[in-house]
Amino acid sequence: MTNGKKLNSDIDFIRHLKKYGGDTMKKCFQCATCSVVCSLSPVENSFPRKEMIKASWGLKQELIHDPDIWLCHACMDCSQMCPRGARPADLMGAVRSYIYRFYSTPAFMGKALSEIKYLPYLLILPIILIFILMLITQGGDLSAIDWSIHQFKYKDFIAHGPIEVLFISGNVLVFTLAYLGFKRYWDDLHKFNQYKKVQNFIPSLVQVFKEFMLHKKFDKCPTNSARYYGHLFIFYGFVGALIATAIVVANLFGAKLGLYPEFLPEHMNMPLYLLGGVNFDDPNEVTEFVGLLVKSFGLLSGTLMIIGGLILLIKRQVTEEREGKSTYYDMLFLWIVWGVAFTGMCCVLFRLLQTPVVAYPTYFVHLVLVYFLLWYMPYSKFAHMIYRLLGLTYLKMYGRDSKIEIFEKNYNKYKVTEKVTI
Ligand code: HEM
Ligand code: SF4
Ligand code: SF4
Repeated sequence: MTNGKKLNSDIDFIRHLKKYGGDTMKKCFQCATCSVVCSLSPVENSFPRKEMIKASWGLKQELIHDPDIWLCHACMDCSQMCPRGARPADLMGAVRSYIYRFYSTPAFMGKALSEIKYLPYLLILPIILIFILMLITQGGDLSAIDWSIHQFKYKDFIAHGPIEVLFISGNVLVFTLAYLGFKRYWDDLHKFNQYKKVQNFIPSLVQVFKEFMLHKKFDKCPTNSARYYGHLFIFYGFVGALIATAIVVANLFGAKLGLYPEFLPEHMNMPLYLLGGVNFDDPNEVTEFVGLLVKSFGLLSGTLMIIGGLILLIKRQVTEEREGKSTYYDMLFLWIVWGVAFTGMCCVLFRLLQTPVVAYPTYFVHLVLVYFLLWYMPYSKFAHMIYRLLGLTYLKMYGRDSKIEIFEKNYNKYKVTEKVTI
């Protein structure tokens, strides 16, 4: 009898992988070209070759607790070079999507976000909630909405107060549930791996954060620079839009609670003449100027998100044949983020044009998409921002660097400084 190790194959896991990008994984004949071409792979025990074999054997525990899948930035170099067309990059994405589903709390939400047939149910919840907010604002009488009013404000259609209350309470609930899933994943990473710790959590997180702000790892792939710009724009656009929204909310709430007077004007006009000079002794002019700055910042952020999203969408469309397939996870997330940005910008435009007939419905759709994006974050591809931060931080704590980072750190050691004459 041999002393072989018993492998626990999980057939449901294999089914998931095949459905979400790994349908060609069995073509892999373990030549390791992919691991060689991947600039983000570490020197030892490199990826994605080892993930390919683990995936075909259905080794779920080994794969979902393999932190290397977060080092992979889906640049597609490996899939382009694979002589068998096994598409290792897509397989790595399929494992990541399994993690969003496996760690979701409650579990049914992970399932709901993974298939298009559940999409109407997911949409109906924010639609009903926003509809109720609209009814509350109109005192229960929808005929009270004035569709032809000039100088309208969105709060006449759906009041800000109930929106904020629903938004904050919903987010507290969702992020508490999300925390449980993320914590389970973090604990499992430690349980299933035995690397030697080289530094603590905080310095590792700071290092990851710094690298991410500059998109250093995205930058390591010259063949896919469009995705670098796409992500850079969408990420900073999203952060900018969050900041602009937070300023507007702070303006309303601070004034309501009597902490300070409103510092933003109520109208949407763009007093561009103020760029020529502001009289800081005139409080009205100062308010107008602060409003102009916040509005410009919001518009710039929205534009960045729209452009970034378009780059990513077009890139996927154009290269699908050559590089890899897009899954439901990829497309749902991309379209929702893009939809949030697009409807947000349309709301600004329609308010400037004073057309409530199109502005109110657009605002309704915008709110539905915003709730969809944030409330379903822990279960959709959007969860990558937390799982990836955790995975990358874990790797830093245990000193597992990409070979290109090791090369860059030691560059001076190997650099030829003396002129060699032959
Ligand atoms: C801590 C923060 C984040 C990190 C480390 C991160 C990193 C990454 C990486 C490495 C990818 C490529 C892998 C893949 O497609 O699965 C990716 C994809 C993506 N990320 Fe992020 N991200 C972060 C936050 C965000 C935020 C806040 C947004 C904006 C809403 C965003 C939007 C996207 C989109 C749209 C894609 C898909 C790109 C595509 O389809 O080609 N990310 N992210
Ligand atoms: S995925 Fe392709 S390149 Fe990588 S080991 Fe398998 S056959 Fe080789
Ligand atoms: S997609 Fe890019 S980063 Fe990911 S394994 Fe392939 S070559 Fe490496």
